[in-house]
Amino acid sequence: MQDAVYQAVYQRSLNDPESFWAEAAEDIHWFRRWDRVLDDRNKPFYRWFSGGELNTCYNALDVHVEQGRADQAALIYDSAVTARIKTWTYRELRDQVARVAGMLRAQGVGKGDRVVIYMPMVPEAVMAMLACARIGAIHAVVFGGFAAPELASRIDDAQPRLVITASCGLEPGRTVEYKPLLDTAIDIARHKPERCLIVQRSQYPATLSQERDRDWDQQLAAAAAVDCVPVAATDPLYILHTSGTTGTPKGIVRDNGGHAVAMKWSMKNVYDVGAGEVYWAASDIGWVVGHSYIVYAPLLKGCTTILYEGKPVGTPDPGAFWRVISQHQVSVLFTAPTAIRAIKKEDPDGQQRRKYDLSSLRTLFLAGERCDSDTLTWSKQLLGVPVIDHWWQTETAWAIGANCMGIQALPIKPGSPTRAVPGYDVRCFDEHGNDAAPGTIGNIVIRLPLPPGTFPTLWNNDERFVHGYMARFPGYYLSGDAGYLDTDGYLWIMSRIDDIINVAGHRLSTGAIEEVLASHTDVAECAVVGVADALKGQVPVGLVVLKAGAEIDPTLLSQQLIERVRERIGPVASFRTVGVVKRLPKTRSGKILRGTMRDMADGKPYKMPPTIDDPHILVEIAEALRTLGYTVVDAPR
Ligand code: COA
Ligand code: AMP
Repeated sequence: MQDAVYQAVYQRSLNDPESFWAEAAEDIHWFRRWDRVLDDRNKPFYRWFSGGELNTCYNALDVHVEQGRADQAALIYDSAVTARIKTWTYRELRDQVARVAGMLRAQGVGKGDRVVIYMPMVPEAVMAMLACARIGAIHAVVFGGFAAPELASRIDDAQPRLVITASCGLEPGRTVEYKPLLDTAIDIARHKPERCLIVQRSQYPATLSQERDRDWDQQLAAAAAVDCVPVAATDPLYILHTSGTTGTPKGIVRDNGGHAVAMKWSMKNVYDVGAGEVYWAASDIGWVVGHSYIVYAPLLKGCTTILYEGKPVGTPDPGAFWRVISQHQVSVLFTAPTAIRAIKKEDPDGQQRRKYDLSSLRTLFLAGERCDSDTLTWSKQLLGVPVIDHWWQTETAWAIGANCMGIQALPIKPGSPTRAVPGYDVRCFDEHGNDAAPGTIGNIVIRLPLPPGTFPTLWNNDERFVHGYMARFPGYYLSGDAGYLDTDGYLWIMSRIDDIINVAGHRLSTGAIEEVLASHTDVAECAVVGVADALKGQVPVGLVVLKAGAEIDPTLLSQQLIERVRERIGPVASFRTVGVVKRLPKTRSGKILRGTMRDMADGKPYKMPPTIDDPHILVEIAEALRTLGYTVVDAPR
């Protein structure tokens, strides 16, 4: 295989990580250089660039203003839902962020304080994130599609001094009123933030509480610009909560130093993008893709980044992405396969694409879920550019497996995110921690240390960090993904080993949905499984057993459960299917056979588990799934 250039870089990153990343760190402005590149004195809590001091906002904005990019566009806000486009140059964005930072400081926010940001895709959200970085405050962004209790659990974990929200978000055909959601969340939360800042949108101005709430515009008008504060490389830049195997989300911590180095390095080496180019990650700031590739990496690199408020379809049509690419001369687009599937579903022949000049587009990157070959092939033919699948997680902030276009473009195998990215020593282990043979599915693990930018720990929870990720195979990070390496060293990421599911590129815990179903007074027990869906990749399906004597009508019960998941977790869960069954299939030791039920709903031939308590239950489950519209094949005898 012709991969010598990639191999040389990859091997150097593993053989001598300290000099590799020290060299990359020269591309960042430091107020004080580091004492140690890699601090491994407290394994498995590795720290990068300890002793160093920098400011992420300085590197993302001020540096470019001072080094000749002041008049280049930094941020383009393209709102398909309000038909508004606004551009900020690097100078304008720096000046605005400096004032937002002054406003935060006037609210009492200082270094190390947490700020929860619960916002739609409006420019104030990006400014708030960068302003936190400017003064050394730690932001915790909560995705707008989460309901009040999810927001409350994140408020309790992060204990913010300030919460920033907008009066509303605009979903196609629906206005999401954030303010009442915030009020409910603060009612539920044990931690009561002292202050909330509200961006009032004309579509739905909210009523503010006199004591607690302040109007963003009014406060900003009175704010003075403030300078960047040096922070330790190891100080947290942000917390981002992600689904774990329980209902309690995990607060992924991101440091300042390693993150800035990795982000900037990845723009050239993974995406092959240079300063001055337009880079668009069509994601949401509430997810890690939004943090890394809408906000931090493109700005650190001196690119123009796009904040797109809209959907791939319906705002107004399936040509929306192509319109944005041609209008803003996008070089690289990054989105989720589900977005491409949505476009393909509405415009299978690609009629819309023909309306636009897409000559600026060089590469399409996909991530967030397993990329099926159809999506890859269809988008490649439609756009005529390389389509690159890459694999990563909230925990890592950047790609673990990719075809690194800035190092050496390798042959593509559809369905594989190609090879391990420099910095990541990716292995596939069997249950005993031995290397699995090529082509054999096992646990995908990464040998420690993880490279810069990856999470040093979980917020306030070192124990869960060790227990959840580092304990299973000491010396290795357990990714939670199952897959294999083939004989060419290509990675294949097949599924999760835990109860995490991926719904339209969004990571959700079936355990958390089960907790909601189980809280209904008529439900004795339940199981939620992620069933294959042609558009969203997976959708959650619930199977519930009624308590003895419960007389509720099954249709009413499903409506109540669907509504309850929407209210407690949020519409983003896309929970729309519940079946009532007499019993759930279990092993003799009492473990619910979720995998078997998932295979049944997916129409796969499933094996009769040898440990099953009562095989007849599967006949009942098959009947229930057929009633819900699934094609269940008969179990092999
Ligand atoms: N705020 C409030 N509600 C939101 C929301 C937000 N930021 N984002 C989604 N929702 C709501 C939607 O309005 C919808 O509500 P509904 O049940 O009332 O219709 C629900 O959550 C499910 O949303 P979604 O998963 O977006 O499904 P959809 O059917 O509206 O759209 C897609 C389907 C494929 C177009 C859409 O999921 C999509 O654009 N996916 C790309 C995902 C992505 O970029 N992920 C980032 C990972 S890289
Ligand atoms: P998140 O933390 O929300 O980014 O979700 C990370 C999870 O999404 C991973 O652990 C995988 O299960 C899945 N995932 C992300 N990208 C890919 C990909 N390219 N191929 C397969 N699975 C992916």
